[in-house]
Amino acid sequence: MSFLGLAQWNEVTFAQSAEQLYERALAGTCTNCHGTDGKGVVDGGIPLINQLSSAEILTQLKAYKSGTLDGTIMPQLAKGYSDQQLTTIANQFGKKP
Ligand code: HEC
Repeated sequence: MSFLGLAQWNEVTFAQSAEQLYERALAGTCTNCHGTDGKGVVDGGIPLINQLSSAEILTQLKAYKSGTLDGTIMPQLAKGYSDQQLTTIANQFGKKP
């Protein structure tokens, strides 16, 4: 492998891990309340989200954002993200089919 080839390979690896870091960081906001990986916090009084699929979570987030679903916290929160970011977040959580 040429030196140039190796440098390019490094760039690709870096781009992928930066993307993963960004995705984890977006989802990290949610874990404060919903627990790591959405498993919930004991006696936290906040709904568990890890029993939902990614698609169900996305549907809920969009409903909070558009105002069709009521809540104390989630409506304000959901409004702060683009639809693209909500998709990324929902994919980080949720039961994988
Ligand atoms: C400050 C605490 C807090 C944070 C941060 C938070 N949530 Fe919530 N979440 C709640 C509460 C409380 C509810 C119940 C609805 C309400 O009152 O807004 C809820 C409800 C939900 C629901 C609906 C669950 C159900 O079974 O109906 C989903 C899905 C959800 N949150 C996803 C998320 C995601 C994804 C994030 C990160 C962007 C997030 N939450 C961040 C507190 C929080």
